[in-house]
Amino acid sequence: MSGPNKDYDPVEVSPLHADEVAAMRDEAVAAIEAATSLDDLKSVRLAHAGDRSPLALANREIGALPPQARKDAGQRVGQARGAVNQTLVRRTAQLEAEHEERMLVEEAVDVTLPYDRRPEGARHPLTTLQERIGDVFVAMGWEVAEGPEVEAAWLNFDALNLGPDHPARSMQDTMFLEPQEAGVVLRTHTSPVQARSMLSRDLPIYVICPGRTYRTDELDATHTPVFHQVEGLAVDKGLTMAHLKGTLDHFAAAMFGDGITTRFRPSYFPFTEPSAEVDLRCFACRGLQPDVESCHTCRGEGWIEWGGCGVVNPRVLVASGIDPATYSGFAFGMGVERTLMFRHIVADMRDMVEGDARFALQFGMEL
Ligand code: PHE
Repeated sequence: MSGPNKDYDPVEVSPLHADEVAAMRDEAVAAIEAATSLDDLKSVRLAHAGDRSPLALANREIGALPPQARKDAGQRVGQARGAVNQTLVRRTAQLEAEHEERMLVEEAVDVTLPYDRRPEGARHPLTTLQERIGDVFVAMGWEVAEGPEVEAAWLNFDALNLGPDHPARSMQDTMFLEPQEAGVVLRTHTSPVQARSMLSRDLPIYVICPGRTYRTDELDATHTPVFHQVEGLAVDKGLTMAHLKGTLDHFAAAMFGDGITTRFRPSYFPFTEPSAEVDLRCFACRGLQPDVESCHTCRGEGWIEWGGCGVVNPRVLVASGIDPATYSGFAFGMGVERTLMFRHIVADMRDMVEGDARFALQFGMEL
């Protein structure tokens, strides 16, 4: 920029000459056209249309000119700046369109490409079934209780009226932790949670406890050394075998559908008195003639064994500090694997422990 035109000399400063203005315009238009990206265009805009661009600086000189010259120069510079701005607008639109088109191509997702990711796993049906069982009881106001798998022998046996000399103590094929004198076992059933619940909870108690259990069985189609049980325990005033029966009938219907009821057969467990085996109405033939006679599921019985149950033995209540003169209770225990086999016609228990995702996937992505 030339210095201020202090003496009002009516001579146009050189940047306002027609060919200078045309040259600045052409240079600006060429630079704009040459920009290949929106980023490029940003710096070109600054250089050729910004406050310090040659045309903007030339514009500032106009004010110092005499009136006629000012008008001519103003027109020239104005037209040149107009042309530059128009080119900018057009080129911006072009580059934006190009950018958008390129994005559409570059960011396109081909939904027809072959699926080559590793298949996702699925939650194990034993887990989801245990949660579902929990839900059935929580809906009746029960609570889900938990206990450790490594358990004190006292809670696994003694507190449940299975003293050291009790024959039933050796009936359960127990895994002991070393050293054996320490009295620590892998729990053989979920019943120690009964004792734990009675020792730690306020009365009345309504708890359901699904969990892992251990016995020294060989793995075959119907046995596994690591398995699951679900224990139920209710302790309240005035509970009877009738409450137990009603609860189990509701549980059976929730698991296997309406009309699948239970039947009790007299049995023996040291921690319940009286005790019973719980049978389930055969869900295949429903015990109906003539199907029941040829039914492979119940072998013509009309019933299948599901678990054990009974009225809590007063000695067990006493061992946990509960007065059997005021309170009574009932308890039951079922195999979760067995329940899953019945519900989904799983023929071989080994499928449940092998960890093949294809087994679990059949049950869907239940959450
Ligand atoms: N704990 C018993 C078993 O493992 C089942 C059972 C639980 C029986 C509660 C009665 C009451 O065989």
